[in-house]
Amino acid sequence: MEEKTVRMKDTVSIKTALVFPQDTNMHGTMFGGKLLAYIDDIASISAMKLCRGPVVTASIDSVDFIKPIREGDSVTLEAMVTWTGRSSMEVLVKVTAEHLMTGEKSIAALSFLTFVSLDESGKPKPVPKVVPETNQEKWLNETGQRRARYRKTRKNQSKELIAFFAQSEEDFNGTQGGNV
Ligand SMILES: CC(C)(COP(=O)(O)OP(=O)(O)OC[C@H]1O[C@@H](n2cnc3c(N)ncnc32)[C@H](O)[C@@H]1OP(=O)(O)O)[C@@H](O)C(=O)NCCC(=O)NCCS
Repeated sequence: MEEKTVRMKDTVSIKTALVFPQDTNMHGTMFGGKLLAYIDDIASISAMKLCRGPVVTASIDSVDFIKPIREGDSVTLEAMVTWTGRSSMEVLVKVTAEHLMTGEKSIAALSFLTFVSLDESGKPKPVPKVVPETNQEKWLNETGQRRARYRKTRKNQSKELIAFFAQSEEDFNGTQGGNV
């Protein structure tokens, strides 16, 4: 049977928002947590465009906040699925800030996220393969396997940390009775 495929460009999602005072911190720049919520939201839309079913966020790779986004700027998020495993999908999100008075644009953040497609019983479900077409898409896709391997290593390290806390008798404040 022929493997189901989806073109990378058919997974693209784009969102633009204005940065309001309630989105900012005491320095007048955007809250990282607010931007993370936008990133997770748009990335999940791209993942669902690929698998056309429910997904969960499995992990967010390091998010580099490259430039501050200021109150009154617009923020544009572009997402697309860059690599697919069996049930997992890697999504790249690029965040661009625009100073609306001058038109100056800059990349404010970049992040890779991994989503897992779930079946009716909440178990990981196979996804269609994403197909790159342009040179940029091909590069992102070819380098995806390496990033996925790195995530596996990182997940194993998290498991070690969980095992450590599970046997620890201390809370963070040093009192007894931790044990997660
Ligand atoms: C994500 C989740 C479904 C994975 O379940 P699991 O039992 O670990 O499943 P598996 O080990 O079979 O892994 C399934 C796929 O997820 C990938 N995966 C699992 N954990 C991952 C992680 N931390 N980062 C990246 N990929 C991950 C695996 O590599 C595998 O990919 P593949 O099928 O393409 O080879 C499960 O850990 C979960 O439900 N987590 C909570 C998700 C959630 O609530 N998200 C919202 C955040 S509040």
